[in-house]
Amino acid sequence: MTQNLADASRPAAAAPAPAAALGTADANSGEPRGWWRDAVIYQVYPRSFADSNGDGMGDLPGVRSRLPYLRDLGVDAVWLSPFYASPQADAGYDVADYRAVDPMFGTLLDADALIRDAHALGLRIIVDLVPNHSSDQHEWFQRALREGPGSALRDRYHFRPGQGTDGELPPNDWESIFGGPAWTRTTNPDGTPGDWYLHLFAPEQPDFDWDHPAVGDEFRSILRFWLDMGVDGFRVDVAHGLVKAPGLPDLGSHDQLKLLGNDVMPFFDQDGVHEIYRTWRRILDEYPGERIAVAEAWTPTVERTANYVRPDELHQAFNFQYLGTSWDAAELRTVIDTSLAAMRPVHAPATWVLSNHDVTRHATRFANPPGGTQIRERGDRELGLRRARAATLLMLALPGSAYLYQGEELGLPDVTDLPDEVRQDPSFFRASGQDGFRDGCRVPLPWSGEQAPYGFGPTAGGPSWLPQPAEWAGLSVEVQTGDPTSTLELYRSALTLRREHPALGAGTAVTWLDAPADVLVFRRDSAAGSFVCTVNTGAEPVRMTAPGRILLASTEAVAVEGETVLAANSTIWWAV
Ligand code: GLC
Repeated sequence: MTQNLADASRPAAAAPAPAAALGTADANSGEPRGWWRDAVIYQVYPRSFADSNGDGMGDLPGVRSRLPYLRDLGVDAVWLSPFYASPQADAGYDVADYRAVDPMFGTLLDADALIRDAHALGLRIIVDLVPNHSSDQHEWFQRALREGPGSALRDRYHFRPGQGTDGELPPNDWESIFGGPAWTRTTNPDGTPGDWYLHLFAPEQPDFDWDHPAVGDEFRSILRFWLDMGVDGFRVDVAHGLVKAPGLPDLGSHDQLKLLGNDVMPFFDQDGVHEIYRTWRRILDEYPGERIAVAEAWTPTVERTANYVRPDELHQAFNFQYLGTSWDAAELRTVIDTSLAAMRPVHAPATWVLSNHDVTRHATRFANPPGGTQIRERGDRELGLRRARAATLLMLALPGSAYLYQGEELGLPDVTDLPDEVRQDPSFFRASGQDGFRDGCRVPLPWSGEQAPYGFGPTAGGPSWLPQPAEWAGLSVEVQTGDPTSTLELYRSALTLRREHPALGAGTAVTWLDAPADVLVFRRDSAAGSFVCTVNTGAEPVRMTAPGRILLASTEAVAVEGETVLAANSTIWWAV
């Protein structure tokens, strides 16, 4: 018997967003329940999703026009990367006005229409909030520069005199995440060299000083602005960075980049950040409908990540430990166990993510030997896609909330051979081309047609801000729709099943069953039924007793007379 449910049942239109369920408990686990606890949240990177006006840059009307696609895909919510007024020094993560839409993306009216349409389709909208730094074009920073030393506005950022005889050396030894020093020297209004300012990222992204009360006041007001617009939540950019250690102490002789995410830094994961999130949680809770916030917090351990999602703080935090795990059964089992264990005491759902706009797409990571999240090699495409499909089914069978990044449902690889002259990632330039390959996962999506931009923009032959590879004609939504072997139909089937069967996604635990090396077998139970998920991360097929009836498989799967062969690099969902 060969089963592939890819063409069996397309998801029905989702009901409008249900009313708040806060305070209710799951009948099986007794855990608190809310829409976000097992939500599948799809990241839209607006500049690369859909371009309505043909200027080569995606925009909000483009996103709006494709909402039915996202509804049909079966996701619960859409997270939009920044679309605010911005000079785009870091693709919009440099915000000049937090309450305005950049004309490149549309208008506030477009944002309003997008939120309304999404809600009418039963989709929730999460927007990005960038509180660690602003753009250097932000009014506060511009005034701070213009008014010179002594300007009260300077206290809202980290301005410091330099070291050395003439202040010619930076105030401390911190490095920018994008390469080079984390400080840039200003020029005084009279033309003399002035103080330095801190920027953990690009020089165009000065860090706010969260010790200044005006900064907190401003962000509480920005939260309310977007909550009043009707958004369902926020993704908090660099949530671990807002508070710096008092006195901005030197790091010492450590290799800073190696330490990132592995140790507590004087500028990351300082305990003081949590008080900020407590005040935000109180604001979110004032609004009806369970508005949420998810932390982008790169912390040394999942235990420290759990601090961000204590009951009076944020709702979720990205699980970057999971994203960084290789395609290896033992390593996956360990990270799944530690993630679930870390979240249980704080009653927060675990989250799972394989790709986003900052890392090499998982189809390309898994096509290469393990080696971090910035990969420039094409690797073995077929192997990468096969593992990526298996990894996705594993992720979607885990308890908690899952994040998808636009285009992974098409099995898109990273574009590893972008010419240097089209690249825009600021870290590529600051790292002298040794790092910063994030443009490779940001190439505009192929929707339809034979000719670039493949339906991304309205006109065949029209522009796209990054060039799409010719082979993407064969990966478009149009080509994959209705093809039961396509990755798009695999995602659609998986998300349909996840909605139909609460045992997938719900709860806080998995039950591991005996499995040979390179294989994971776990069981999920709920009142609505039980599931077994089998994953073979190895290069050899494995014969085993079939645990039940095949529901969905990442690759051709057969169960005959109670026996099955788990193909190499594959995942199967079983009803038991
Ligand atoms: C976050 C964003 C990334 C951005 C950085 C600085 O890590 O995800 O894209 O470059 O913050 O804002």
